[in-house]
Amino acid sequence: MSWTLITSLVVITLGCADAYNIESPNTLCFPEHFSFGVATAAYQIEGAWNVSGKGESIWDRYTHDKPERIFSRQNGDVTTDSYHLYKDDVSMLVQLGVQHYRFSISWPRILPSGLSNEVNEDGIRYYLELLTELNNHGITPIVTMYHWDLPQALQDLGGWTNPTIADYFVDYARVLFDNFGSRAKTWLTFNEPMSFCHDGYGGNDAPGARSSGFEDYMCAHHVLRAHGMVYRMYRDEYADKIDYVGITLDFSWLEPATTSEDDQKAAEIARQFYMGWYAHPIFSKTGDYPPIMRERVDAISKLQHFPRSRLPRFTPEEVKMIRGSADFLGLNHYTTYLISKNKGKISLLPSFEEDMGGIISQKKEWPKSNSTWLKVVPWGFRKSLNWVRLEYDNPKVFITENGMSLERGLKDSRRINYLDGYLKSLLMAMAKDKCRVYGYTYWSLLDNFEWTRGFSERFGLYDVDYESPNKTRTPRSSAHYFKELAQTRCIPAWNYTT
Ligand SMILES: *[C@@H]1O[C@H](CO)[C@@H](O)[C@H](O)[C@H]1NC(C)=O
Ligand SMILES: *[C@@H]1O[C@H](CO)[C@@H](O)[C@H](O)[C@H]1NC(C)=O
Ligand SMILES: *[C@@H]1O[C@H](CO)[C@@H](O)[C@H](O)[C@H]1NC(C)=O
Repeated sequence: MSWTLITSLVVITLGCADAYNIESPNTLCFPEHFSFGVATAAYQIEGAWNVSGKGESIWDRYTHDKPERIFSRQNGDVTTDSYHLYKDDVSMLVQLGVQHYRFSISWPRILPSGLSNEVNEDGIRYYLELLTELNNHGITPIVTMYHWDLPQALQDLGGWTNPTIADYFVDYARVLFDNFGSRAKTWLTFNEPMSFCHDGYGGNDAPGARSSGFEDYMCAHHVLRAHGMVYRMYRDEYADKIDYVGITLDFSWLEPATTSEDDQKAAEIARQFYMGWYAHPIFSKTGDYPPIMRERVDAISKLQHFPRSRLPRFTPEEVKMIRGSADFLGLNHYTTYLISKNKGKISLLPSFEEDMGGIISQKKEWPKSNSTWLKVVPWGFRKSLNWVRLEYDNPKVFITENGMSLERGLKDSRRINYLDGYLKSLLMAMAKDKCRVYGYTYWSLLDNFEWTRGFSERFGLYDVDYESPNKTRTPRSSAHYFKELAQTRCIPAWNYTT
């Protein structure tokens, strides 16, 4: 059978509206073409950081040079070794019976120096083999171009703060479309720019710039330009080859801490800063940064005696180029925060938090996970989806991540309970509120290297024994639950005690 014939059997469809079956609590079902899958990212699972021509990434450099910033001085040099064990990963996907697999490509494995004058053939081979393996099992790939592992050579030029990087990203995307476009039809340009700009250039993730209120804004600016440029290139040159290009944004629900008008207002401003910063330029009718963000950063920059705003400006051509530059919104949602108005005097020290003007907290009573930031608050999922629906005229949404960390163990009934709550919240947003959601992706297929938290936080449906030579993968109870979900498309009525 020809490749195109096989791939045509399983495709992601963003066009069908199906009836729901939510008649009785025992049959809570998603639409027929709704796609279930799981996600991973290159640096978190591949290992093989220095083999067969791969270049160094900012996470390689950061974990090696600043090990004290990482839990137990761990790194992703080997992690789950999926570079060698990807066939094991695919057999797990087959066991789960999922419709799609979301993974990311390591930019420095394809282009060791970040630039497209030198293509690493081993990198092309690796991802082609993975795509072939997925195709052989009828699993649709959803491929992320950038999941945080920037080539170090580009960081040496300023990384995402250098305007030129947008051109380099377009060159990289072209190499990806040329080599993989016949096999991968659904693409995400970026994963969670809010996180990698804010935490990478304004905080403690790689490259660890710690320059909040400056470099995080520059990063976002050039990420948005790069995203728009890749989208326009795909529409102009690859529309016959590629089906969908979107972007993944992370949106935790931001609930007012009290019913006071101040807190209500502060929570809405926070949503515009956290989500609108990236979503407004792409998904709103007017484009550009959210007006309230423009207003606040301009005014606070002035108060701080800067001659111009710390928030860069798009040209009118850029506003137009970025506006509408996504076929769908990839949404990562994990948890909820409370926002109260920061009533303190404005600090002369620039920061995103100061500009946003809200104070963030979580309720002590909310059930915990094994990550300090992740509390279990299922209702926040439905609220996030509805905010997106109302704010951006009900865009097509694909859930690209949702999940929970727990301490090690195979009987993870609390993870199943998390899934049950969040899936019901998602289903209500779709069936009752008419949010247009086409798929759900659990983070993650297997335990992996959780950035500065090292291997201490486990999100996997499969446990990984990092001590074993084969990085032995073992299904948890949640893997069995997820299999039933993916195969029936109905939320399993699960006995949580088993
Ligand atoms: C690759 O890195 C490992 C440490 O993870 C080291 O032991 C090995 O010598 C390196 N190999 C090369 C070719 O540099
Ligand atoms: C996560 O689990 C480890 C033990 O595996 C524990 O030491 C740590 O305190 C836990 N973290 C949180 C946030 O619960
Ligand atoms: C590791 O995997 C190989 C190939 O699947 C197998 O032959 C070997 O027995 C495994 N070793 C261990 C310790 O599980």
